Amino acid sequence: MPHITTHDTIFELKAGETLLEGLERTGHDVEYQCRSGYCGSCRVKILSGRVDYDDFPLAFVAPGEILPCCCKVTEDVKLDCRTAKREPDLFETDLFAAED
Ligand code: FES
Repeated sequence: MPHITTHDTIFELKAGETLLEGLERTGHDVEYQCRSGYCGSCRVKILSGRVDYDDFPLAFVAPGEILPCCCKVTEDVKLDCRTAKREPDLFETDLFAAED
């Protein structure tokens, strides 16, 4: 299986998994709406490698961009994508605890 490299990690897709699903599984911050190549919401920049499409997507894709919801990854690729930052949960901290 090809390796997917992002700014934060390297992973492989599972059998039958789309690139969008792989990015979500590994905690990446990727937007989506249609998940089928119509809206372009999932667009990400590809830094190296290339992908293919079974059917050319209807959404606009600029040179250097791909649609991870509907592309086929056949070789190692590097994407301009980061994992989602987790905001600290303010309720985990006891705001009323006495300081020593
Ligand atoms: S989610 Fe709509 S084109 Fe990818």
